[in-house]
Amino acid sequence: MFQTTREILQSADEGDLVRLRGWVYRKREFRDKIFIMLRDSEGVVQLVFSGQLAEDARKLNIESSIIVEGIVKVEPRAPGGKEVHVTRILWSYIGEPFPINVSAAQADSEYLLDVRHLWIRSRKMWAMLRIRHTVFNAIHEYFRMNGFYEVQCPIFVSAAVEGGATLFPVKYFDRTVYLTQSAQFYLEALIFSLEKVYTVAPSFRAEPSRTRRHLTEFWHAEAEMAWSNMYDVMKISEGLICHIVRRVLDERLEELSILGRDVEKLEKVRPPFPRVLYDEAIEILKKKGLNVEWGSDLGADEERILMQEFETPIHLYGFPEQIKAFYHKNDPQDPKRTLSVDVLAPEGYGEIIGGGERIEDPNQLIEKIKRFGLDPKDYDWYIDLRRYGSVPHAGFGLGVDRLVMWICGLDHIRDAVPFPRDIRRVAP
Ligand code: 4AD
Ligand code: MG
Repeated sequence: MFQTTREILQSADEGDLVRLRGWVYRKREFRDKIFIMLRDSEGVVQLVFSGQLAEDARKLNIESSIIVEGIVKVEPRAPGGKEVHVTRILWSYIGEPFPINVSAAQADSEYLLDVRHLWIRSRKMWAMLRIRHTVFNAIHEYFRMNGFYEVQCPIFVSAAVEGGATLFPVKYFDRTVYLTQSAQFYLEALIFSLEKVYTVAPSFRAEPSRTRRHLTEFWHAEAEMAWSNMYDVMKISEGLICHIVRRVLDERLEELSILGRDVEKLEKVRPPFPRVLYDEAIEILKKKGLNVEWGSDLGADEERILMQEFETPIHLYGFPEQIKAFYHKNDPQDPKRTLSVDVLAPEGYGEIIGGGERIEDPNQLIEKIKRFGLDPKDYDWYIDLRRYGSVPHAGFGLGVDRLVMWICGLDHIRDAVPFPRDIRRVAP
């Protein structure tokens, strides 16, 4: 029987004989003793080695693996208030000296990306990975609680969803296909069988520049709902985000604190989120001196400036037709704008969700595909969905890595992912 570091700190008593296994996180010598912070998947605990055992412990490197037996002592000076006085080393693998020197590494983030396969052992990565775990779990929980069916969609596709510029071509026997940018069209097909569907899967975008919030491979949580409109998207997407943030606050306070996250800011994330018409956003940005007009697309900089005005996420809705993909339904009251909505995260983070109402009429859809300079033949099966029992429907896609970046308070999306991919990097 082995105890985790967490079990020791939470429930072991003075004098208990325990067995622990893990990795050497820190090591220091004091008089004739060796103090080792032992790291496992649950946390860290201080081990104390003396006598002959100290001689053996001295040989261990940072990140050497060990299994020990020892006696629990209450020690207010030890992190977590307890330590384990080792009585036996049951197993050890000393290995080679660990190559990452933390202070040198902090100065060079490219180096840390080169050694990401080892750096994921660090406390910050550990904390992020545990929050990420809770986020993915909460996504599934929320959709299932709300009557959505989970579905799986193809990764190899034959046409663009979000415009041709960011498609990744793949050689597929004797022709070229693409990696999916979004499961949306398949989800739209599936609502005619299951009405409310969701999927959590990777999406791919050939993003030509390195930014703080773009990856070439990202995790996408997408939902589609029959008999629904833009306001249903607002309700479900804000419910989803509030549920995820609540779960992280309930389960991951320690991890948030390791990341230095100000949790007060996350506590403010409650429904309803302010609903901001695109036109109001343009006015706010103009007042702040930005050079934007009705019809301008908002990039990361504009969103950052806009989101300094708000403490919770917002719904930004009613975007002009020309800055949204062809499938967005135009507002019948005001056809130059679409019934589209993005969710923008506060503290300058910006867009984390994109969605809205879809065109349900086949002729309107064909007309808009042509107007956007696309070929209806490429979208034949997608148009087909409107030919048989078409219904009003709407949906959205959440960029999970961007959400994790915001919840963790990270500067860069690549630190929200264990093995990030961008224009320059596909290894490790
Ligand atoms: O706004 P986007 O492009 O919308 C769609 O793909 C829709 N088809 C979704 C739908 O309605 N089912 O992407 C949705 C979200 C963005 O808000 C952003 O959070 C994330 O996906 N995203 C990216 N995340 C990281 N790296 C990238 N290159 C991303 N591109 C989009
Ligand atoms: Mg978008």
